[in-house]
Amino acid sequence: MKVAVLAGDGIGPEIVAQAVKVLRALARGGLKLELEEAPFGGAGFDAHGDPLPETTLKLAKAADAVLCGAVGGPKYDALPRPQRPEQGILRLRKALGLFANLRPAVLYPELVGASTLKPEVVSGLDVMIVRELTGDIYFGEPRGRRANARNEREGYDTMLYSEPEIRRIAGVGFAAAMKRGRKLCSVDKENVLETSRFWREIVNDVAKQYPQVALSHMYVDNAAMQLVRAPKQFDVIVTGNLFGDILSDEASMLTGSIGMLPSASLDAGGKGLYEPAHGSAPDIAGKNVANPLATILSSAMMLRYTFNQDEWAYRIEAAVKSVLAQGLRTADIHEAGARKVGTSEMGDAVVAAL
Ligand code: IPM
Ligand code: MG
Repeated sequence: MKVAVLAGDGIGPEIVAQAVKVLRALARGGLKLELEEAPFGGAGFDAHGDPLPETTLKLAKAADAVLCGAVGGPKYDALPRPQRPEQGILRLRKALGLFANLRPAVLYPELVGASTLKPEVVSGLDVMIVRELTGDIYFGEPRGRRANARNEREGYDTMLYSEPEIRRIAGVGFAAAMKRGRKLCSVDKENVLETSRFWREIVNDVAKQYPQVALSHMYVDNAAMQLVRAPKQFDVIVTGNLFGDILSDEASMLTGSIGMLPSASLDAGGKGLYEPAHGSAPDIAGKNVANPLATILSSAMMLRYTFNQDEWAYRIEAAVKSVLAQGLRTADIHEAGARKVGTSEMGDAVVAAL
């Protein structure tokens, strides 16, 4: 089992180091894993002038799975778009055909006080967001700058989805719902966008193959509201790239901190890229305060989804639960009475709990 490790920028290297610690501990316990690191994002630009260097892409293609930290930082904000770190992750998703992004938002009982929402609203929360990842306005052409008829400058992007793109992500959504509570909510903006009208039509058609799943549709603005009003009404949410980007950040905060939210980005054959849903947090980079649990939990998702090693995945998740139960907290999830720990201490505690 070969894993490409792309730590990236900001807090990326610190948090990935903790996940690597955990994976190496499992390797000592018998899990056959090969890890290889490569520069990516801003670090890729620094090393090779490209956020996704040729050698990094080659390694990612050859590996069975990719473990990522995060990309981006103020140092790179002024670069032209093709050189921006974000383009590294977007190109990598596209190059590997990682169209299905799974972002589970699970509230650990120990963190119920860390959420900004009332305990009764969030306790027991377990939502899976299935976000389409290689289409939509993120990749639609044409895009760019131009002058309009009045010779004013304008910027424009294209939102679009093809029928096969909608069918395959809807299929992932229904399949996920079948393994869970058999409820699927498709989120769109059908009252305004043609892309969404088409999306809804195709999702309804795919639904015919899943009569056991209760399908509902919701406008994205309402979904944003319902996620904070009554998030437990959701089981699986399936949505496009842009809406999924926004709603998954929102959902993460229900769980106390975006520092807890792992993600899997999968292709059609089980290959995957695993990364925390959060960003590179340049303001706290290098300070050993970032929460590594989202990345550690992402490595559990890797074992489950790419390597079919449910047992090992479960052990990582149980170890995370155990350190939370012990009262260990990084700054983002810290509350009175808990023991505040740094990034590497948290990683060590998970390893010890394994
Ligand atoms: C995410 C991030 C990325 C996205 C950025 C870094 C390009 O926000 O993974 O959610 O918009 O997809
Ligand atoms: Mg995002």
